Amino acid sequence: MIEKLLAFTPKYYERLGGGLEDATYLGLNESDRCNYNCLKCVQGVPDRTGTELSIDSFIEIVESARLQLGIKALFVAGKGETFLAGRGETEEDLLDNYRRLIECTNSMGVHVLQFTNGYYLDKNMVDFLKDKDVSLVVSVDTLDEGKYHALKRGPSNSFERVMANLQYAREQFSVDNVEGYSVYKLAVNMALSGANLHDVDEMKEYCGDDVMFICNYPIKMGCFSSSGLCNSDEEYERIKNIALSVSDNGGMSGTTLERKCGFIHNGFGVDSNGNILLCAYDPSTGQLFGNVNDYRSLDDAFRRVRRAVVAHSAMFPDSRICFLRDLDSYVEFPKSVP
Ligand SMILES: C[S@@+](CC[C@H](N)C(=O)[O-])C[C@H]1O[C@@H](n2cnc3c(N)ncnc32)[C@H](O)[C@@H]1O
Ligand code: SF4
Repeated sequence: MIEKLLAFTPKYYERLGGGLEDATYLGLNESDRCNYNCLKCVQGVPDRTGTELSIDSFIEIVESARLQLGIKALFVAGKGETFLAGRGETEEDLLDNYRRLIECTNSMGVHVLQFTNGYYLDKNMVDFLKDKDVSLVVSVDTLDEGKYHALKRGPSNSFERVMANLQYAREQFSVDNVEGYSVYKLAVNMALSGANLHDVDEMKEYCGDDVMFICNYPIKMGCFSSSGLCNSDEEYERIKNIALSVSDNGGMSGTTLERKCGFIHNGFGVDSNGNILLCAYDPSTGQLFGNVNDYRSLDDAFRRVRRAVVAHSAMFPDSRICFLRDLDSYVEFPKSVP
């Protein structure tokens, strides 16, 4: 069977893009705003009223990361909804910020791997993105409309709108055959939990051959901790095993060929207020690493994160696929920070 690759993921660089460097990824939380309130959200319910840094500051950070560290890609994970980028008064201001970020990063030769709830991925946005170096991972946890609303708690038209957006996007984003691999720029991410274990087959069928299907298992942080979406260690193990076995990526979007997290082992993060992070999914690591302004260069900040990653990884090799998902060892992470 032809192997599927999502462009700009670690496996893509390993197979086709010249390999993974130490600093391949900058995880950028360029939005604190969200129009959903998902039961599972790893980010919790932060102050959704605004993003501290302006889009110009984010662009400067990307430029420094490109020049000083040679990053290849932004991993736009999202503390909120990623299309609502930077500071602004209206939704349109934030969407304009986003488009500027993409124009600028692409002109620097930096690729983008972006997560989104899909709400703003309308026809205009798809037309803007389809020729850019951007891969999109749209979060859809179920195709059951009632369940979607119960889990995601977004706007009342969100299910209908995301489904229509995905339909147009899948018609526009082509799947390319490159050196014997099928290369995608559109994926669905299904965050598996006790609530949607039985929806996997239907979702896989929905993705078919024109959308890459990625399945992940929970990070038990933020809202997830009190969500009731997973109630025992046995259930967690079952969810994990199913997620890893059904995913077209053979793991999560960041999983490397050696089954490590490429975002952690080959990158670092910057939060919406400029804090330096282990991973964009855990803003609390900003308290360990401080702010971008505390360092002489981004290179210094990255080296410090790198030393912590190497030390933690050596101590807890089983957590390499995702430090954050292995909570028992992750509580020890601060001890590795130099
Ligand atoms: C934090 S969201 C931010 C981007 C965007 N708002 C979205 O929902 O896609 C990024 C990805 O994390 C996933 N996610 C959120 N909470 C999670 C959790 N507790 N465990 C695993 N994945 C989670 C989402 O499904 C989404 O694919
Ligand atoms: S998972 Fe994404 S869409 Fe849902 S609340 Fe969190 S940031 Fe918003």
